[in-house]
This record gives sequence, C-alpha cells and structure tokens, in this order.
Amino acid sequence: MKLWGGRFSQSADPAAERFTGSLAFDRRLWPHDIAGSVAWTKALARAGLVSASERDTLVKGLDAVRAELENGTFPFRPELEDIHTNVERRLQELVGDVGGKLHTGRSRNDQIALDERLYLREVIARVRESLRAVQAALVARAAETVETPMPGYTHLQRAQPIVLAHHLLAYVFMLQRDRERFGDCGGRADTLVLGAAALAGTAFPIDREALAKDLGFAAVSPNSLDAVSDRDGLLEFLSAAAITGMHLSRLAADLTLWATAEFGFVEFSDAFATGSSIMPQKKNPDVAELIRGKSGRLYGNLMAVLTTMKGLPLAYNSDMQEDKEPFFDSVDTLDAILPVLPPMLASLVFRTDRMRRAAGENFATATDLADYLVRKGLPFRQAHEVVGGVVRFCETERKSLEGLGLTELRRFSPLFADDVKDALTVDASLRARAVTGGTAPVAVRRSLALARTLVARG
Ligand code: ARG
Repeated sequence: MKLWGGRFSQSADPAAERFTGSLAFDRRLWPHDIAGSVAWTKALARAGLVSASERDTLVKGLDAVRAELENGTFPFRPELEDIHTNVERRLQELVGDVGGKLHTGRSRNDQIALDERLYLREVIARVRESLRAVQAALVARAAETVETPMPGYTHLQRAQPIVLAHHLLAYVFMLQRDRERFGDCGGRADTLVLGAAALAGTAFPIDREALAKDLGFAAVSPNSLDAVSDRDGLLEFLSAAAITGMHLSRLAADLTLWATAEFGFVEFSDAFATGSSIMPQKKNPDVAELIRGKSGRLYGNLMAVLTTMKGLPLAYNSDMQEDKEPFFDSVDTLDAILPVLPPMLASLVFRTDRMRRAAGENFATATDLADYLVRKGLPFRQAHEVVGGVVRFCETERKSLEGLGLTELRRFSPLFADDVKDALTVDASLRARAVTGGTAPVAVRRSLALARTLVARG
C-alpha cells in the first residue's frame, strides 16, 4: 500500500512506479535517514506527541531496522518508492501501529533535505581528509626537490628555471583552497531543516533548537520554504568538486606530459601504469589520464543539478529528486580519485638529471641577463631590447648565452663586465628569486614550511 493510499482509487501504473522510484540510488542515505528519525522521535516525545514508552519502542524499532540494514537482511522494496518509505514501513512491521506515529508533523520534503545535509557533512569530512593526504604526498616529494632545477614554462615554452619543489607546492596550495572550499560549504549547510515539514513549518510544538542540538547542527533554518527548497549545500559541494577535479586534471596532465619521451622528466612506476595490447614497448600513464578525464563528469554533475534547480517555483518539486545521482556520482568520483594519488605520487621517479640539463637550455636565463643590465642602471625596456639582440645573435651563431665571450657581449652593451658569467647560471637565476613566493631555494623552503603547517592543521 502507498503512503497516500487513502486518497487514491487506482493503483500506480508499473512503468510510472518504476519511473518515479528513487530507492536504487537514495538507499545509500539510510544511516542518515535513521539518525534523523531517531532524533525526530525524541523531539515528538519532548513535545508530548508520543509517550516515553512509545518513544522507546520507536527508537528500539529504528535500531532494529538499522541492524538489518547493517547486516544486509533488510528487505528492500522498490515498489515503496524511496528509502524513507522503506525504512518507515519496515519499522511499522517490526513495532506495529505505533510505528505510524513516527511521521507526525514531518514530510519527506524536510526529511530528504535533512538526510542530504547529514550525508554532506560526512562526505565533506572524508573528502577533506583525502585531500590532505594528497597534499602530504606532494609535500613529501617537494621536500626532496627544493634544490632540483627544472625548466618552468609559459605557453608550454621553456621560460625560466624553477625548482621542482616549487612546481609541486603549487598544487599543495591549490588543494588547500579546495579543502577550504569544502569546509566553507559544510559551514553554510550546518543548519537544521527538519521541522519545515512539507513547506509551511510543522504544526506541532517541536523544539527545533533542541532538535538541532541533538543532530549537531549549529543553527535552525529561519524560513520553512527556503529550508525544503534549498540545495545550495549540494551545489557548493559539486562546485568545489568540479574545481578540485580541474586542479587534479592539471596535475595529471603535467605528469603525463613529463612522462613522454620528449620531456623525459618522470617515470611512472609499473604499479601505476598499464601496457598496450599491441605495442609491447608501451607503458601508458592510465591512472593519471583517468584522473584528468574524470574532471569531465565532475563538471557535468554540477551543470546537471544547476540546470535542474533553475526556474523551480517554491517550494519542493519532484524535479529535485534528480539532485541525487549527480551528487553521489561526484562523491564516488572523488572517493575514487583521491586515494590513488598519494601512492602514485610517492612512486614517481623524477629524472632530475634531465630536468637539470633542460633548465639551462633554450636561453632560460635571458631574463637574468636583462636584469643584470638593469642592475647596471639600464632601463628594463632597453635591457630587454639589448638581450633580444643577443638571443637573435646566438640563434644565428648556434651558441648558448653562456657560450658567449665578454667581447661578443660587449658589442651589444658596454655595461657587460666580467661578473656577467655569474648572472647567467641556472643557480644564480634561481637564487635571485628569493622574494616571498619565489622559486629560490630559500624562499621555497619557507613555502614548504608553510605548506607543512597547513597540512598538519587538518
Ligand atoms: N525521493 C524524494 C526526493 O528525493 C523525497 C522527497 C519526496 N517528496 C515528495 N513529496 N514526493 O526528493
């Protein structure tokens, strides 16, 4: 029998029943659904709507339902539409008529809004911990590579020397912002919505403040229409997940590029690569590629829920049932990506010899040569012009900057002197960038210390 049997004379069309059911995906909310029902039972008792002994019967009954769900004996019935109805019906079977009192003054509209917030709270804590583990893995590799020069790129062209730790720490700070975004989202969703009932607020004298305390919420929703219509917490989560996916796709793309023969900066361990079914020599960075690829569904899930919510009149509409699958898919995607990263990062073999060599090639210290002239008093724009000429000369003569003699250099500017040699080395270029946030090893060490503090903070 349906929840709304009283008003209906015809039973549901089987296709319509299959179409409207959500049990297949909302069943994962059962721990939160039961937690919410236990708290609601106690609130009903405090309001005098169930007696102390009825309360105890209901709570014991819910415990029994929970036990069935935990040990896999719960009889899921898709014809009962969703997890809420499945749990409630099972409770009634176990405790009898008193089970019918549980839904007093409550609606599935505030019930689902509550369940999603409880689930969100749990997921946010897990994702933030997983992100922290990725940060810790990056920090560990950064600590080894503070003195390892490599080329830095803009436009994917070699630009200036940096150290590998600087590149790795960039991702640590990105992930720090991600971790904060998930935290912010959790903070804003930390509001009790139960008691909003269907849309207008429950008609019974429920102490919502006590209920909020019981369920661990910091605040009580001040508007019942907003409470049951609001999916912002989910959207913020999906948005933070999309941004995280974007960051991780960039990390994965860097590593994939570095693993090419053309770069040869890194080798993936066999444990995080796969072979080819036809080309015996191949070693493919599949794990990194899939991390890069999964950003697509993280974006798609955000778009799906934003689009579903757009233009919905207040308050609850069945459209909102469509929020769950994209939301859960983003949760599952993050749960799949994040744990694979720390061991993969730990197992990377950096080809520091090749990085170091590449760091000094392709006129990487041309900016330093211009800076040298600036230190001798030449305005930067003129210095840039002079060094441009030097580079053009080197290209036609097939020489490197370091390969030029002082007499050759002085043809471009009389300001060049003996000390120019020291300005042109990769080490000097790195050392010069000791500004806060720069790539000089002293500065990177300071950033590394900051990264460690942030990661330790949890
Ligand atoms: N399965 C529904 C959802 O996910 C629960 C709320 C249903 N409310 C209703 N009036 N049909 O949104």
